Amino acid sequence: MKKFITPLLICFGFMARAEEGMLIPSLLSAFESDMQAKGMKLTAADIYSVNKSSLKDAIMHFGGGCTAELVSNKGLLLTNHHCGLSQVQQHSSEKNDYLKNGFWAKTYADELANPGLTATRIVRIDDVTAAMLFGTEGLEDGNKINEIMKRNMKTLIEDATRNTHYRADVQAFDYGNSFYLMVKEVFTDVRLVGAPPSSIGKFGGDTDNWVWPRHTGDFSVFRIYAGADNKPADYNENNKPYEPINFLKVAFNDRKAGDFTMVYGFPGFTEQHLSSGNLKFIVEKQRPMEISMRTKSLSVIDAAMKTSDKTRIQYMAKQARIANAWKKNIGQIDGLKQLGAVDLKVIFEAEYEKRANSKDEWGQYAGLVKTMNQLVADKSNFEFHDVLFYEYLYVGPEYFRLCRALEDIERNYSKYKESGELEKKIENLKKGADGFFKDYDVKVDQQIFDILTKEFSGYLSSNFTIDGLSNPKLSATIYAKSVFVSKEKYLAFLGKFSEKSLAKLAKDPGYAHFKKCWSTWKDKIEPAASEYSYNMTALLKEFVKGKQIMFPDLKQWSDANSTLRVTYGKLEGSAPVDGMAYTEHTTLKGMIDKFNTGNPDFELEARMVDLYKTKNYGKYAQNGELWVCFTGSNHTTGGNSGSPVLDANGNLMGLNFDRSWESTMSDYYFDPKRCRNIVVDIRYVMWVMDIYCGASHLVDEMVLVK
Ligand code: ARG
Ligand code: ASP
Repeated sequence: MKKFITPLLICFGFMARAEEGMLIPSLLSAFESDMQAKGMKLTAADIYSVNKSSLKDAIMHFGGGCTAELVSNKGLLLTNHHCGLSQVQQHSSEKNDYLKNGFWAKTYADELANPGLTATRIVRIDDVTAAMLFGTEGLEDGNKINEIMKRNMKTLIEDATRNTHYRADVQAFDYGNSFYLMVKEVFTDVRLVGAPPSSIGKFGGDTDNWVWPRHTGDFSVFRIYAGADNKPADYNENNKPYEPINFLKVAFNDRKAGDFTMVYGFPGFTEQHLSSGNLKFIVEKQRPMEISMRTKSLSVIDAAMKTSDKTRIQYMAKQARIANAWKKNIGQIDGLKQLGAVDLKVIFEAEYEKRANSKDEWGQYAGLVKTMNQLVADKSNFEFHDVLFYEYLYVGPEYFRLCRALEDIERNYSKYKESGELEKKIENLKKGADGFFKDYDVKVDQQIFDILTKEFSGYLSSNFTIDGLSNPKLSATIYAKSVFVSKEKYLAFLGKFSEKSLAKLAKDPGYAHFKKCWSTWKDKIEPAASEYSYNMTALLKEFVKGKQIMFPDLKQWSDANSTLRVTYGKLEGSAPVDGMAYTEHTTLKGMIDKFNTGNPDFELEARMVDLYKTKNYGKYAQNGELWVCFTGSNHTTGGNSGSPVLDANGNLMGLNFDRSWESTMSDYYFDPKRCRNIVVDIRYVMWVMDIYCGASHLVDEMVLVK
């Protein structure tokens, strides 16, 4: 059988793709020899160990969505500029425009606190599959099984954290085929130390986002503080810089194409196993809808941001969030179409079905693929609408955000009142009003409302009509009368909150509209969408198990799920498009060339041009050139931003921050020929800190190795 299958797999691109995969660090020994054969000088235990300090101890989950790494024995932490953007924004005003001009703390005392921001170290990762499933053997009743597993999970977490300051959770892998316990140390005093001006940190803006060649200095600098005992502590003036178990040293040697690279971080979410029908639904229906909703809101926001500095600052982070997924989705469906990913899946599915029918003991996997594709055909419309409502109510008009909080209070009024939580909740809403309205422009919001409501209605299936949606006076009434679009009215409304307020709430035209949409979503769509996803997960669980058993020659890896992973490849360019080849690195010269095009996304301060002209690169150049970014063939995804890119010795070569346009399909399908991650070279980061921004004291904290 094997002899027959292997050539077939190779010919259809299903051979083990060396660079593909996001590996669980505690299982790395299985890949150690391959990594060493590719140039790595470390052992698996140097990367992950619970018995001694390892690279793992220098890697932090930053705020839950990005990765950061420790680079000094005083808790100095590097992440991306776009990961620290909301912190920089929060500290910015028109007077102190840190976004535009950058920010550098000269002393510890100048470092800025960020309530709510966390940095999390993974203490250990344990396979707890058997313990999670204990007691479920032979049971059929799903509810009963869930109940037992919940109890098992609780015990595991309690055992892991008892008498410690650690936290823990259990994560499902491969749709529940296995479970891992993550024990964590969560630091809650993380201060802003520095950020370059946006002309560096966001150089290229949306023009260059998801694009190679790239010249973005996408980094910002933070510091973890701890209590006197060096353990996590909430912000306190007397906290001390954290003394880490381990920190990364900087790879200060020359680089070249072919060098071993490894990315260590917290990739968020991939879906490699979806059925062909499911992928087709995403490529042809779901993504195009998301793209077009966002195209509409961006047309309003982009125009508004050009009208004044105030609006630009107000909308910078929001715009970046909306535009980012928008552009990624465009690249992603392009890439998937070019590769013919749906057809490749169809071919693989045929092979899967064939193998399932080839042996009695594999019979349980026969017919699975067909069932999955049928489920998509029958029920994906619920998922489509689920995403549509999300785009409207979460990414659309912003006043909905305030409505969501009030909806919760309305629904739980008696409960909150009885428990005494109500007052606190209303107090928090009042406190949040400043932050919300600081970045809110009612005119912009109304334009977003107008354009998106129309688009939303256009997509809405006739099964889910929402009354009043096409009323021509809807928008004018809401934006003239609702309490949610004016800070004064909103605060007055919250001021004397009582049962009467609920009656007032129901009559508020803004809330009434929100509520109709929200109820349709929660009552008619979400339950059906969850059921769809639940059923699909159950099928995928079996499908993946079958893949593991019937395709032992494939490189198997668990989809990303925001847990710590390692991926390796090499410093490498690509030739993703016929007739075009990308080199593997960019230099300051290319940045100046882009500046000279006059596109405002490539604006630079005069200082950058001067430093370029005088070739003032200090010790940071390689052969007289300053490398800015490079690409690698490492399998990354969202959440890997800020991840360290490490060399063969585990030293820091740069910060991962993006993928090329042609690569964004890798969340569904990794193509080693075109998928590249984009990295800002640490030598450029240090040059910006030291020579451009004059923060040489930070460079002095780091350890450079040649
Ligand atoms: N595309 C990168 C990622 O997904 C960077 C995003 C930030 N940059 C931007 N221009 N929006 O996070
Ligand atoms: N820019 C992404 C992030 O923020 C990385 C990626 O999607 O490649 O994590």
